[in-house]
Amino acid sequence: MIFVLFGPPGSGKGTQSQYLVSEYGFKHISTGDLLRSEIKAGSELGLNIKDTIDQGGFISDDIVIKLVEQVIDKEDGKRVIFDGFPRTVNQALAFDRLLSVRNLKVDIVVNFEIDFGKIVERISGRFTCSNCGTVYHKIYQPPKVAGTCDRCGGHDFVVRKDDQPDVIKNRLQVYQNETEAVRKYYESKSQVLVTIDASNSPELVKQTLMNKLTQVGIEL
Ligand code: AP5
Ligand code: MG
Repeated sequence: MIFVLFGPPGSGKGTQSQYLVSEYGFKHISTGDLLRSEIKAGSELGLNIKDTIDQGGFISDDIVIKLVEQVIDKEDGKRVIFDGFPRTVNQALAFDRLLSVRNLKVDIVVNFEIDFGKIVERISGRFTCSNCGTVYHKIYQPPKVAGTCDRCGGHDFVVRKDDQPDVIKNRLQVYQNETEAVRKYYESKSQVLVTIDASNSPELVKQTLMNKLTQVGIEL
């Protein structure tokens, strides 16, 4: 089962992925996380992409597709969530091709809808565990014990460089310019595209997602 979680920055793709991973055993592939790992590792690729990521631009299709191809071959492709990929029509076309040669396909695309007004509030309160990457929010999703990661017990948290207000605006602009076409692409292919209201609490969004999946006959 291949899931694509699709939606603007801060719409909760990472948060809902965490549920699908912990409760249903999915693998989680976030192109944003992959790219940030390259930066953290100080690789040549990481050095080349750092400024673009920090300023909220998109990384070139070639780079992103290559990264996805490398990682998909490490997974068995059976139960995988793609979070934040594809984000351009070129990426969507390349994704279909690389899945079809492996006898796989996108089974469901979940479109996260949220008012852009809520996004800044969400992103500006976000922090993540520097050890395992679990996502938190200072008000909406704090760790159960303050200062301790629920998942790995780590005590070190980081704030993303691209979570500054002016960069958030740029990310939203880039998203609007590039990504609407991807939604249309999946609609036109009459693949299973479900739209969820992502503006409610994390639990309610999760429940909405589960209900929608049941409605379209997807069993997890
Ligand atoms: P990426 O890391 O994917 O960032 P993004 O798409 O901007 O999305 P975010 O991770 O910011 O948001 P999210 O939807 O995961 O929300 P989250 O669950 O964290 O990409 C980063 C960069 O990498 C891009 O800008 C680009 O440069 C590059 N890149 C990545 N993929 C690429 C591609 N395919 N092509 C080209 N370039 C690419 O939630 C946000 C906050 O809200 C958290 O604090 C969370 O706790 C909280 N929250 C979540 N849900 C709720 C809720 N329901 N109610 C209240 N709070 C909530
Ligand atoms: Mg994310």
